[in-house]
Amino acid sequence: MKRKKAGTRAADQVGTNGRGKKARGTAFDGHEGVSPIPPVPRFGHGSRVPGWDDAADLRKDPAVVPDAATTPVPADLRAEIEAHMAKYPDHRSASIPALAAAQRHHGWCSPEAVEQVACVMGLTPGYLFSVATFYDMLETHPVGRHSIFVCTNISCSLCGADDLLAAVLEAADGDPDLNIRSFECLGACDIAPMASVDGVYVGPVALDEVGTLVAQIKAGEPPLPAKQLGHRAVAEPLAAIPKGPTTYGGQMPEEAPGPPAPVEQQSPIPLQDEGQGEEGAT
Ligand code: FES
Repeated sequence: MKRKKAGTRAADQVGTNGRGKKARGTAFDGHEGVSPIPPVPRFGHGSRVPGWDDAADLRKDPAVVPDAATTPVPADLRAEIEAHMAKYPDHRSASIPALAAAQRHHGWCSPEAVEQVACVMGLTPGYLFSVATFYDMLETHPVGRHSIFVCTNISCSLCGADDLLAAVLEAADGDPDLNIRSFECLGACDIAPMASVDGVYVGPVALDEVGTLVAQIKAGEPPLPAKQLGHRAVAEPLAAIPKGPTTYGGQMPEEAPGPPAPVEQQSPIPLQDEGQGEEGAT
């Protein structure tokens, strides 16, 4: 009974385009010439996107900065976090790369990983969790080893991204090692429909290439080498350097090219007093 009601509602939505007019398109529910408008999938809290639905436990005491004496941090992770902190006048600016480093080390931003970052950075775990839960490439729940983000934003969508996502999910066959999800525009619309595989952009991906792509990912091989963005001819030589596969983009090189970011800049406009002085002198 409930199903029938839902179907009737869907048919009603489909029957009009919101202005009381019939929409034109393919057959749906047996009605020729009516566009299919599938119900929008929603999360438990009613939104189309995951949100802050893990409420804070207000009965707990506020977490403090972890004690270095009782919080062991792997030496290589500590060194990487400290290297990121050294790049910024305010070391909290290194929160995102530090969490990304912990994610690479632990597989996700687990409570233990966040504790370790907090210990090195002298911050509370709560501060870092507020960062980790805001940025959706920082995982706050365990995920598969390989991240496959299929872009389903407008350019990719127009080129068949929904079918591509469905094909990738089908080819993966529920493999828990693969973290597959749709993603908003990944900024490579010119190779639509595209996907990011452990930070490596591939596209345009044809449906008959999906089986090969998934098999390569499972085997730990480079995904569709001929379709990688990094292998395309570009005017800027540095842009064409392929990045190593990571769960969060490439690792920063020891020596980043270019001048260091200025901490404080002089205003190019002379102060009023100086300008008046110069005028008076002429
Ligand atoms: S819409 Fe897919 S990369 Fe921009």
